[in-house]
Formats: sequence, C-alpha cells, structure tokens
Amino acid sequence: MENKEQDRNDIPLSEEEIKILKASVNAEKVDRSKLPHYDNSDRAKLWRYIKKNKVFATICAVLALCVAVTLILCVVFAVRKAMDGENKDDFTVILGDDRYTAKYKDVMRDGVLYVDMRKIADYTGLTVSGSKTSVKFTYDDDNYLRFENGNDSAVINGSMVELGGVAVVNEKICEVPYDFLTKAVGDGLRFTLDRETNTIKIMRRMYTTDDKDVFIPKEIHFYTDSFTVLMGIAQNTNDMEYEYSIDVSAFMSSIDPKDQNAYLLLANKQNPVGADYAPTDLKVLECNTKGKRISLRYDAAIALEAMMMEMISDGITDTFVTSAYRSYSYQVGLFEGYIEDHMAEGMTREEAEAAALEYSARPGTSEHQTGLCLDFMTEDMSDLDESFENTAAFRWLSDNAYKYGFILRYPSNKVDTTGYKYEPWHYRFVGRTAATEIYNSGLCLEEYLTLN
Ligand code: DAL
Ligand code: ZN
Repeated sequence: MENKEQDRNDIPLSEEEIKILKASVNAEKVDRSKLPHYDNSDRAKLWRYIKKNKVFATICAVLALCVAVTLILCVVFAVRKAMDGENKDDFTVILGDDRYTAKYKDVMRDGVLYVDMRKIADYTGLTVSGSKTSVKFTYDDDNYLRFENGNDSAVINGSMVELGGVAVVNEKICEVPYDFLTKAVGDGLRFTLDRETNTIKIMRRMYTTDDKDVFIPKEIHFYTDSFTVLMGIAQNTNDMEYEYSIDVSAFMSSIDPKDQNAYLLLANKQNPVGADYAPTDLKVLECNTKGKRISLRYDAAIALEAMMMEMISDGITDTFVTSAYRSYSYQVGLFEGYIEDHMAEGMTREEAEAAALEYSARPGTSEHQTGLCLDFMTEDMSDLDESFENTAAFRWLSDNAYKYGFILRYPSNKVDTTGYKYEPWHYRFVGRTAATEIYNSGLCLEEYLTLN
C-alpha cells in the first residue's frame, strides 16, 4: 500500500495540475492536497508523517518493539511458571520479630527446602555446642539435636534418624531440612510454610497463666516418633536398679561421678591425645597387679578396686591388671617393639607398621595414655590374647562391668568403627551412666559419642 501511495505522489503532473500548482505559487505554501488524485486516507497521512519525521518514527518503532518483546517474555515466563507449578522467588524466613531473606537456589536443593538451625537456635535460645562441622543444639538434658556436615542422618535425643536431606554445617550456618524440623520439634514451636509467597514462619508457642496478660513460651521438646531410629542410646538409665554383692556406698562417687563428661575423652586413630597429654589425677592401683606399680585416673582407679573386690567376693580370684596408664614414651617403646618383631618375621617396615596398627596404637593415639583403661589377665594366661574370652573373669565382666562404670572397649563386632581387633581383656572407664547406656545399646564408644 505504501508503495502505491508513493507511486501516486510521484505521478508526473498533468497540464491541469500544473496550472493549479502555478496558481498557488504566490500562496504561502504549495498545497498538493488540492490535487484531484491526492490520497487523503489516514494511512497515506501516516506514511507522509513518517517520511517527514524519520528519527522520531524510528524511536517509536524501537520502543514498540521493546514493549512487544517484553510482553512476549512475560507471557512465556507466566506460562512456564504455571506449567511447573513452583514459585522460585527467594524465601522470607520470619523468626518471631526478626526476618531474613534466603535465596531460592541456596535453600531449595534437590527439591528439599532447608532452614538455618543456627538462626532458629538464636531465636529460641537453644544452647549451641560442638565443633565447626558437628553441632549440637540443646534445650535441656533430655532434648537435643545433633547435625554433622555432609550427613544424611541426625541425632535426636541419642537416637540416629534419617534427615531427609544432607546437612550443611560450618561455623556460620547449619542448614537442615525444614520438613525434618517440623517432625522433630514439638510443643514449643509453630511452623508455617506458604509456597505462594515463599514465606516460612517459625514462632514460639506461648501460654498464659491466670494472669491473662502474661505470656510464657512453651517448653521445647524434640521427638523421634515420626522417624525410624537407625541407631540409638538406650535411655532411662535413671530408672535402672543396680545390684551389688558388696557394699559399694563408699566408692559410689567415683563409680557414678557427677561430671560424667570428664570421663568421655575419646582417644583413637582419628582423635589423638598428642605427645604432651598426661592426666594429672593418677592413683597407684591397690588391687591385684602382680606387684607391678600401675596407675589409673583417680575415679577410674577407685571404681576398678571396688569392682575387683566384688569379683573376688563372687569367687573370681585369678584375675589381675597387667597394664593401665601408659605414658607417651612408654607407648613409643611398646609400638616400636611390635614393629621390630614383625620385621624380624620378614616384613618391610611399612608392612610391620600396618600389622602392628591392627592391635597397637601409634604413640599419641593410645587410650592407655588417658589413664582411663586397663588390660586384665588371669593366672592361666601367658600373654594377652583372646583366650581371656573363655575365663570366668570375662563372663563376670560381661554381666557386671557396666555397674562399675566400665565398658568392653574393642568388641568383636565393631572392628571397623574402633579401628582395632577384638580385645576381650581391654576395659575402659566412662562412669556408670554412660557405661549402662552403652551396655544396654550394644554401641561402641565411638558410636555412643556420635549420638551424645
Ligand atoms: N591395644 C590398644 C589398642 C592400644 O595400644 O592402645
Ligand atoms: Zn589395652
């Protein structure tokens, strides 16, 4: 159409037309619209306007194009959003009177929504402890959660359960699945999630007393009911009844010490105590050591002496302690001796070391250096070996050691976890509460400490 219009305006003028134009020469302006074939349609007017205002018309055209592209993009975005049905806006997390924004891509991973437990702990006043990568949130002795970086499990009050995601734990954050928390936390907190607006709201539940103006936060409890327990500490040791055949009242403050944590020191291949560690409360043992001067930390020594008194009163008289506290330098000699023995058998030093490490600790990593463990032998034995398993002493210890705060440290079914071969003769003092929980649960010390 435009070309036609152009053509029409370019038609050579007739005589008649030239006359008309000449008549208007003296007029202020030549007015082609007076011409008989002049196209006065809106379309022609617009085209003439565009030709006259090229810059303005170009700007208008570009703007129109931009608006069109924007509209198309909006439509495409809206259709896609409607199709995948998910709001991918950033999240607003409301914690009481505080709020923070969390980027969608940071908190929604593999379809699992995460929240920062450190921030929730700040809001709720939970006690935060642990290390950089393993963090524990405690409300009281019976209510705690533990998360470990990279783990797909969590600990609720001594029970390991599936997390339903993978925890990200460092010094600043502890991201755990929102769904996990809604199932694990009861009573004290109210959780609300609005995916329309991507808002998470976590509020303390309150109650009022008779004085209707006073609001008090409800206690926080953690529950395992909604989970399958993968591994758990047997609880309720408070209800346990302990039977002794001797009067243990004078030794009870050592057997069941107030500060149980003081005796939960872990020394293993992954957790060395180091060359400089030495206990400061060693006591020379006054039980059967075959005359050797052997020490243990004070409470462990008292508990052991009491335990051996009961063993004797139960008719087990052939048992003695052959080793207990060992200094770093003593362990150096012992470990080197084993390596030399293996090399004498024809092994290379590397092979000899690997063989020794299956049953003996590298200096600085031995539990004996903590002064909290000991090795038993009986008169019939010439060396420390598995024959101890067949003694009356071992059977008695299996049933009773926990009552005195001792555990079998290297059980035959936990070699992969403890890192050492079965040692039926090696007992470790942890205090009566922990020993009972470990005895009832069938856990080894490493597992118990992971759940604590
Ligand atoms: N026999 C144990 C593992 C030690 O050497 O400490
Ligand atoms: Zn030992």
